[in-house]
Amino acid sequence: MRAGSSGARLGLEVEGIDLSAALSSKDLGRIEQSFRSNPVLVFHDQNLSAANLARFARSFGRIVPGVNEKYRHPDAPEISFLTNVEADGSIDRFGVERASAWHYDGSFADAPPICAMLYGIEIPSSGGGTLFADMYRAYETLPAGLKGRVEHLTTVNHFGLGPDGRDYFDGMTPERWGAYKPVQRPLVMRHRLTGLPYLEFCMIHTAGFVGMSHAEGRDLLRELLAHAAAAENTYYHRWRPGDVVLWDEHATMHRNASDYPPEQRRIMLRAMVAAEASIIAC
Ligand code: OGA
Ligand code: MN
Repeated sequence: MRAGSSGARLGLEVEGIDLSAALSSKDLGRIEQSFRSNPVLVFHDQNLSAANLARFARSFGRIVPGVNEKYRHPDAPEISFLTNVEADGSIDRFGVERASAWHYDGSFADAPPICAMLYGIEIPSSGGGTLFADMYRAYETLPAGLKGRVEHLTTVNHFGLGPDGRDYFDGMTPERWGAYKPVQRPLVMRHRLTGLPYLEFCMIHTAGFVGMSHAEGRDLLRELLAHAAAAENTYYHRWRPGDVVLWDEHATMHRNASDYPPEQRRIMLRAMVAAEASIIAC
């Protein structure tokens, strides 16, 4: 079980595991154990094919393919590229900007993924990091007044309607957008593994709160974000080629730090794991 309040739990380095090979039950057990108390784990110096990454992801459950078909990997469509380079070598502007608002993946879905991972292949020489916020700690450290105001609120999550969701909304055809329905969830959730409370909202897809005007909801989301994403609550992952970062989608929020020159190549592979097939770790 996770220890009580303390900072800097995110970004624990796990050593001595080669993720290109099938995981032994001992190594899987080690990962599961670490993951309970450290919702962001880092594995350095990996050398993986898309199929290797898919096998690692399947250790935790069924893989959820990315929504955007353009980025699916030709050899393993359940794996997506996260890239700022188009097929002809030019800059992919969406790839540069994507995911730069605070979010957790699939927050618009009935059952968002439970964990996800990125594998760094080409990394800019400066910047290019990923930021993570600890949402257990965000809850624990809420000032009493704010906690009292939000403790029993219910979020409304609807594709692209969050305060920072404009590009996502604009990128959809009306037919595709129409397939997404609003999904309600408590703002304060209990983690299914640790039993601990955490805050769950997303700046891309959380549209607001039940019983509150849109404008008030946006203001409150910004207030909650200012608290949750304060520097002392976040971890910046500085990528090295060969890094795998595995994160708990529920206990954390994340974002592309958007802090690199766009002409520098940033290419990664990404896998997300579905909620219903959850085994142990994530
Ligand atoms: C993601 C994501 C962040 C980044 O792949 O889900 O949010 O740093 N990536 O690119
Ligand atoms: Mn993401």
